Amino acid sequence: MLTLPGELIKAGIAGIGVYVPERVLTNAQLEEMVDTSHEWISTRCGIHQRHIAAPEQATSDLAVLAADRALENAGLAPEELDLVIVATNTQDMFFPSTACLVQDRIGARKAGAFDLAAGCAGFIYALAVGSQFIRAGSSRYVLVVGAESLSKFVNWEDRKTCVLFGDAAGAVVLGPAREGSGFTSFKLRADGSGGPLLRLPAGGSRLPASRETVENKLHYIQMKGREVFKFAVRVMAEITEEVLAAGGLGKNDLDFFIPHQANTRIINSAARRLELPPERILVNVDRYGNTSTASIPLALEEALRGGRIKEGDNIVLAGFGAGLTWAAALLKW
Ligand code: UT7
Repeated sequence: MLTLPGELIKAGIAGIGVYVPERVLTNAQLEEMVDTSHEWISTRCGIHQRHIAAPEQATSDLAVLAADRALENAGLAPEELDLVIVATNTQDMFFPSTACLVQDRIGARKAGAFDLAAGCAGFIYALAVGSQFIRAGSSRYVLVVGAESLSKFVNWEDRKTCVLFGDAAGAVVLGPAREGSGFTSFKLRADGSGGPLLRLPAGGSRLPASRETVENKLHYIQMKGREVFKFAVRVMAEITEEVLAAGGLGKNDLDFFIPHQANTRIINSAARRLELPPERILVNVDRYGNTSTASIPLALEEALRGGRIKEGDNIVLAGFGAGLTWAAALLKW
């Protein structure tokens, strides 16, 4: 690749890897745990099962396995990484960052590392940040990981949330893109006024951990599902059109749509607004549930492995989540 001094370098995906914990929790098993039914979960959310991390597995353990696979897929040694960004909502602990734990375990000895918190849109935010480092020429290879062990933060007595989430990790290595390919545009958005709709209230400086916070179950995910649903339906198609327009494209140019996997009804509504036929959308929420920051790399890897993405395809990755945040990336494969 020839670049002139001062010329911006486009970032692309040099490698991808995922890890999903072995244990599967089916809707039938959930019926034994809370007052729910396979019928309700599958028709309202499109979820049939989810994977659950083992008791001894923390988020960094999942992230390391996905990262190792992404490096192998890219054909790179860990020392070649300049930066490690982990997008997560379920970090191992407050500090050190999960990214530092991953950096150490994979042997990325020459890399900086930090976590990025932007709800379920975190993976796209992290792609945007990593891409800018490559674009500016200050990094050559950046590892971007989306990893979650949400099962550890779910109230297993709350049927409104416990049926939705799953654990997984997905990682990409960003590097200088092949001529004519790579990330063309990003759109990042936030509306903090919607913060109370989806949160984990205690354990931070606002409500430090106490006997009371534990007794009141304030260390678990709380969500006003219906409100988040309405927000997601409104923003998903909108931001997809915006990121396409920023890249000089319209919705008819979109070859493949990879949405955050939270609910098939949200995905279908976005697809309808974008007039996208089902063969141009990746849906895997049925098998994994909502894996937050891991859901988009998990879906991208599946689409690539299945040969559904071809060279030259225009792909949009779009997500939304706690914050509230929403974001999209336009990628030419
Ligand atoms: O990654 C971003 C994070 N979150 C999301 O993307 C979630 C977005 N929201 C959603 O996907 C949907 O709002 C849910 C799937 C969470 C809920 O679906 P809904 O159609 O919005 O249902 P609802 O919350 O309005 O609840 C309808 C009924 C209620 O009963 P009543 O009050 O009408 O008698 C709930 O109590 O369904 C009941 N319900 C359940 N029933 C059986 C709620 N959860 C369950 C359940 N099983 N698991």
